[in-house]
Amino acid sequence: MNDGPTSGVATAPAGDSFCLFTLKQVSYQPASQPIKVSMKTLWSQRYALRTHRMQSSMVRELLKLIDRPGLISFAGGLPSPEVFPVEHFKEAAARVLSEHGAQALQYSATEGYPKLREMLARHMARYGIVVASENILVTQSSQQALDLIGKVFLNSGDRIAVERPTYLGALQAWNAYQAEYVGIAIDREGMKIEELETALRSGPKFLYALPNFQNPSGVTLSLRRRKRVVELADHYGVPIIEDDPYGQLRFSGEHLPPLAALDAGERRERAYSGNVIYISTFSKTLAPGLRLGWIVAPTEVLQRLVLAKQGTDLHTGTFVQMVAYEAARGGFLDQHVKRIRAVYRERRDAILDALRKYMPPGVSWTEPEGGLFIWAMLPDDFDSMTLLPDAIEHGVAFVPGAAFFDDGSGKNTMRLNFSYMPPDKIEEGIRRLAGVIARVSDNVLRLA
Ligand SMILES: Cc1ncc(COP(=O)(O)O)c(C=O)c1O
Repeated sequence: MNDGPTSGVATAPAGDSFCLFTLKQVSYQPASQPIKVSMKTLWSQRYALRTHRMQSSMVRELLKLIDRPGLISFAGGLPSPEVFPVEHFKEAAARVLSEHGAQALQYSATEGYPKLREMLARHMARYGIVVASENILVTQSSQQALDLIGKVFLNSGDRIAVERPTYLGALQAWNAYQAEYVGIAIDREGMKIEELETALRSGPKFLYALPNFQNPSGVTLSLRRRKRVVELADHYGVPIIEDDPYGQLRFSGEHLPPLAALDAGERRERAYSGNVIYISTFSKTLAPGLRLGWIVAPTEVLQRLVLAKQGTDLHTGTFVQMVAYEAARGGFLDQHVKRIRAVYRERRDAILDALRKYMPPGVSWTEPEGGLFIWAMLPDDFDSMTLLPDAIEHGVAFVPGAAFFDDGSGKNTMRLNFSYMPPDKIEEGIRRLAGVIARVSDNVLRLA
């Protein structure tokens, strides 16, 4: 049947047994009796109401710039590509394909690859969260976890208590479910307890908390406040969504128990049945390109999340789950996290040194004990957004802080990522950024 190419007919190469028939190439021929198609579709009138607040994240827009030659980017929350264990993944992928190839390429259970779920349950236990693998749902990374939580819990107009500032991607996920927010200011110990109590009293659907090296501020919720958060959330009957991508990336200070562990510990029940839904990810410890994360939740919630996920993507890729399991097992994850911590500690120190060395008076910043971010605060009359074009012009990028506030405040703040650039670039980038800020300060002073 492969007689060589024929005009308008697709043919398979010789010997290709897959092609049992030739395909007619479908090319449009004007019909002898033309059909009428003159109306222009007004798509904008058809979009669901929930799309009205969907906006591209400023961070994702900025990420498009990082390939500009010479640009030093403190903008994205990108892990350092130098620490990606590429060779290790090559071997893991080859092993999966040679030993379990057909299974890896097949559809699989929505809940996730059983061996990966079991490994995650053991991993969680080490952080004090004692769960069965049945309490774990593997997700397309933690961003999907946030979306599924929105899908399961949020009606239009529901209020969520969030830290101010909070993770932009969560606002993006929940804006699509037409959520409203009640903000809780943070200081160097995390959420301010008085504001937390006011927010909880107003009856939000849930509290969204980022206790470890918060994105964007780098702030960690102190142990004293963690206990109060758990107690108060319980007292007011408000569940907690604990988002913890950075907990393993501590460079200094003491490890602090997750809210989920404090809450479940107090309940002393055998099954995981507490007030906290915990989310984490392999994005910052293995690689974000895997798009692999997980949710820990009481069984009845997990069942709802599973249904929500079925409608979204049926399940997270079998192959990627099996490769991640193969790559992480046998202690590799822990060893690798140790290596990452050493690299990021050096970069955190480099950015703190550079900030101290170059920043003009009036600028302050957080000193995180882990994670990927530093939060810089400029004098009150600054708008960091207006600095950005100038900064990019001078070869340095950051994220203006207002993007992380549910109410658009925080204009004088900026988020600086320190994991992506090597230490020498970090120093040069902060020197450039400080120059931009100093020039604007001079202008402000001159105009005053
Ligand atoms: C607090 C927080 N949650 C969730 C995410 C989403 O991460 P991923 O979807 O890669 O797991 C991020 C990413 O930076 C984050 O900082």
